[in-house]
Amino acid sequence: MSQQHQDLIDRDRKVTFHASTHLRDFAHGDAPGRVITGGKGIHIVDKDGREFIDGFAGLYCVNIGYGRTEVAEAIYQQALELSYYHTYVGHSNEPQIALSEKILALAGPGMSKVYYGMSGSDANETQLKIVRYYNNVRGLPQKKKVISRMRGYHGSGIASGSLTGLKAFHDHFDLPIDTIRHTEAPFYYQRAAELEGMSEHEFSKHCARKLEEMILAEGPDTVAAFIGEPVLGTGGIVPPPEGYWTEIQAVLAKYDILLIADEVVCGFGRIGADFGSHYYGIKPDLITVAKGLTSAYQPLSGVIVGDRVWRVLEQGTGEYGPIGHGWTYSGHALGCAAGLANLAIIEREGLTANAAETGAYLQHQMQAAFGDHPVVGNVRGVGMLAALEFSVDPARREHFDAAHKVGPRIAAAALDENLIARAMPQGDILGFAPPLTTTRAEVDEIVARARRAVDKVTDQLVREGAIKATMSVG
Ligand SMILES: Cc1ncc(COP(=O)(O)O)c(C=O)c1O
Repeated sequence: MSQQHQDLIDRDRKVTFHASTHLRDFAHGDAPGRVITGGKGIHIVDKDGREFIDGFAGLYCVNIGYGRTEVAEAIYQQALELSYYHTYVGHSNEPQIALSEKILALAGPGMSKVYYGMSGSDANETQLKIVRYYNNVRGLPQKKKVISRMRGYHGSGIASGSLTGLKAFHDHFDLPIDTIRHTEAPFYYQRAAELEGMSEHEFSKHCARKLEEMILAEGPDTVAAFIGEPVLGTGGIVPPPEGYWTEIQAVLAKYDILLIADEVVCGFGRIGADFGSHYYGIKPDLITVAKGLTSAYQPLSGVIVGDRVWRVLEQGTGEYGPIGHGWTYSGHALGCAAGLANLAIIEREGLTANAAETGAYLQHQMQAAFGDHPVVGNVRGVGMLAALEFSVDPARREHFDAAHKVGPRIAAAALDENLIARAMPQGDILGFAPPLTTTRAEVDEIVARARRAVDKVTDQLVREGAIKATMSVG
């Protein structure tokens, strides 16, 4: 590492509180740092000019790839005219109007309005407020609980982090808050249902049954909404088992429970459809979007409000006056300009179709490279989302001892190959979510580098006696 790069990291250690970081180790120089200075296409470059394939598109958000000057130009032009004015009490800006029209056209029938924020977390805070307001206006003040799923990811605020169903986001923060519950994760592989002779569809029915049991135990008149990602994301990149969303929606309809689709990852093309809801036949009342909305060229999120809820919001303000909800930066003109330029690129370059086509190739190549690998228990994904789940004994779906840190070690070995793949936070799972611009040749390169990384750690595990020598792939 160059002295210049090292100096920057040393300065950073003294002054920055980094997200999801071992704070003590980082501050004291015992955990690595890196300064990223540029990017082009699916590659990013650090201060030393070292180039990596970003196999996770930042945090599954840089969908159009890096270095798109067209988006930079749109932000610049908007900044010259108007960077910001608030959107309270009916004020607007031109990019906000055009972006809302575009989002609603993509979302399809039944969706009425868009409310903007800056992050997926704040958008889900808005969702929770809308849900409360909705039932208060309807004269159902006791109908407040929201059911999420174990392993769901919906942000890391007090309320959005409570919706999240991952241990690390709750422990030591006194979360979840009450009124939020977590039901069965739609994780066919990890629940080992197949080993018990349960088909995917039967497992989906089981998940729906568990949800219904929870609703009945809580009291249906106390349950307001259900929130889920079309494809479980940070909880492990898990496409739903067959029939899952049909079964779940039937239960929700029975008890007058709103459905919030958290499309922060799936929205705007990632799985080869405009929305994950379209792909899986989900008919949400409310949709959360962020990430792919601007491909992270500006922070911007949105809550798309369906007709059924919107009517009640209007009724509420008719009775109680203007709604008491708003962020200073709602509908920020630069964010909306970036969103418009980003969605124009996705449309013009057919990136959603590429996510379907090249995504299918990614799934195929992952299966070919890892389907029979001695430490890979499950290869899964959809579109441009893929995951490898590691197992000490794939036939029995047995986990590695956590002490071996297999997921993080394989991610580190991938980094040695100049490939960024994400060690997902719970379990030994390596995630992939490359930009939607990724080509077949780039998929081949991603898979080849990943294979070298997995083989390298497999050999280390053999040497350490963590797995049997016959498993060596060297
Ligand atoms: C499905 C989902 N919802 C919400 C969020 C939270 O978004 P943010 O990190 O922008 O607050 C994320 C972030 O990864 C996400 O994946």
